[in-house]
Amino acid sequence: MSNYTRRDLLKFLGRSSLVGLTTVSGLTFLNGCTQKKIHKTVLNNIPPLPFTALTPSDADDLLLAEGFNYEMLVKWDDAISDKDTFGFNNDYTAFIPFDPDNPDDGLLWVNHEYTSPMFVSGYTGEADYVRTKEAVDKEQYSVGGSIVRIKRNSKGTWQVVYNDPHNRRITAQTPIPFNWPEPIRGSKQGIGTLGNCSGGITPWGTILTCEENYDAFWGETDYSDPENPTHVRSVLGWEDFYDNPPEHYGWVVEVDPKTGEAQKHIALGRCAHECATMYQMPDGRLVVYTGDDANDQCLYKFVSAKPKSLVEGTLYVANTMDGKWISLNMEEQPILKENFANQTEVLIRLREAAALVGGTPLNRPEDIEIDPLTGNILISLTNNKPKGDIHGSILKIVEKDQDKTALEFTASTFLAGGPETGFSCPDNMAFDVNGNLWFTSDISGSSMNAAPYAEFKNNGLFVVVAGGPDAGKVVQIASAPTHAELTGPFFSPDGKTLFLSIQHPGEGSSSLTDLASNWPDGGNNIPRPSVVAVSGPSLEFLAS
Ligand code: FEO
Ligand code: CA
Ligand code: CA
Repeated sequence: MSNYTRRDLLKFLGRSSLVGLTTVSGLTFLNGCTQKKIHKTVLNNIPPLPFTALTPSDADDLLLAEGFNYEMLVKWDDAISDKDTFGFNNDYTAFIPFDPDNPDDGLLWVNHEYTSPMFVSGYTGEADYVRTKEAVDKEQYSVGGSIVRIKRNSKGTWQVVYNDPHNRRITAQTPIPFNWPEPIRGSKQGIGTLGNCSGGITPWGTILTCEENYDAFWGETDYSDPENPTHVRSVLGWEDFYDNPPEHYGWVVEVDPKTGEAQKHIALGRCAHECATMYQMPDGRLVVYTGDDANDQCLYKFVSAKPKSLVEGTLYVANTMDGKWISLNMEEQPILKENFANQTEVLIRLREAAALVGGTPLNRPEDIEIDPLTGNILISLTNNKPKGDIHGSILKIVEKDQDKTALEFTASTFLAGGPETGFSCPDNMAFDVNGNLWFTSDISGSSMNAAPYAEFKNNGLFVVVAGGPDAGKVVQIASAPTHAELTGPFFSPDGKTLFLSIQHPGEGSSSLTDLASNWPDGGNNIPRPSVVAVSGPSLEFLAS
């Protein structure tokens, strides 16, 4: 941190006024989903970090700073029961304990975002390779989500409980109803979920899993001539084998981990949803923030009209230039009435509607978290290369009077990526119980270890320290294997474990005999996306 002093950073964090506090024990996590008390009572009395930051690495390994260690929890294709295996390219994770007072036993939800025909379904790269329905079925089984019961034993080791009755898969072939009074393209349900990138949890213990790049699986409908919409083909070509409309995907999906029951929430709109971050108002109404992860797409907020409803309410898009949430209700927007037949069409063609009412194009809005110390909303803006935003930033939204239902806010940059801060392309975020902000980076595999990203080397996990003499420092904690992205950071209730996904190691491999990564099994083994449990004294120092 040369020109960029920590005092400056604390100003950015909006926490400079908090640093003088001698006690913060009364502050709660304002994220209504977690409702945890801040543990450390004296921010100023936190001693210096007992370890040094990891330096960037290009090793094909999961490296951790001193005082952190990890154990392998589950890998792609591991059997979780006699019937099911763990899916591919794990992203968001969420641990839901059965008993809030027992942090050692619960259900782990894991998103499986996308597939790799080379690793999953036998794609050979040969000119005479013929794609089959059997191959597509394997791909469809590899995405969606997994539910596994995990337990921590007396030695502190987490293990998957094989064959637990809760263990199950949700896949691209699981029927899921739409939570909406109108059918969507002629159906009250969609077949499967996919593109499950990041997510969130609800105060009632269910999971929100977000369908991001659905167009890679089912293509997209081009409505530029609304009278004659045309189909834009997908990368994977699933539509050659199944007749599923793209409009059945791109939704926020709620899953009950105890039963596996799922529903798609149409009221939150259809786009490349990265995540859904829910906040419950004291009167029970829900506020859900969600970003559309693509260049020049928007940030959204749903405010429910009544407690616990994800049907009745208003969806807004952010105009960050004016600091306003703009209604996407066609009864309030004549321009939407001119362009869409009904509100269901507005929600299906959300990007078009957002542009019409003046939503601000952003630089790939990805994960969203609510700062437990301030109540501010943080949004990762990963990058926007065509616009010259190479390293991305984290946007800070302060709702008027800290009211999450407010229609006005101020927006500013919370933290910018680049050489001065030592990270690039921020993506998933998580706050620990002490208010430290953890985040991962997502430099694409094809850009990694080359200009202008060379100095950052492989993707990593970082923490922005909340208090003490290191407050405001950005500290690298982990370095990912070759081509991988660290995703889905989620803390156990006692803060002693950080669940972390290692997604797409070796995804740039040219063939099964020319692998870019052999992580985690080493040798000549193919790489396997995996979920690990990170622990150790340095984690406990920061997060418990
Ligand atoms: Fe799947 Fe936007 O990352
Ligand atoms: Ca992501
Ligand atoms: Ca990403």
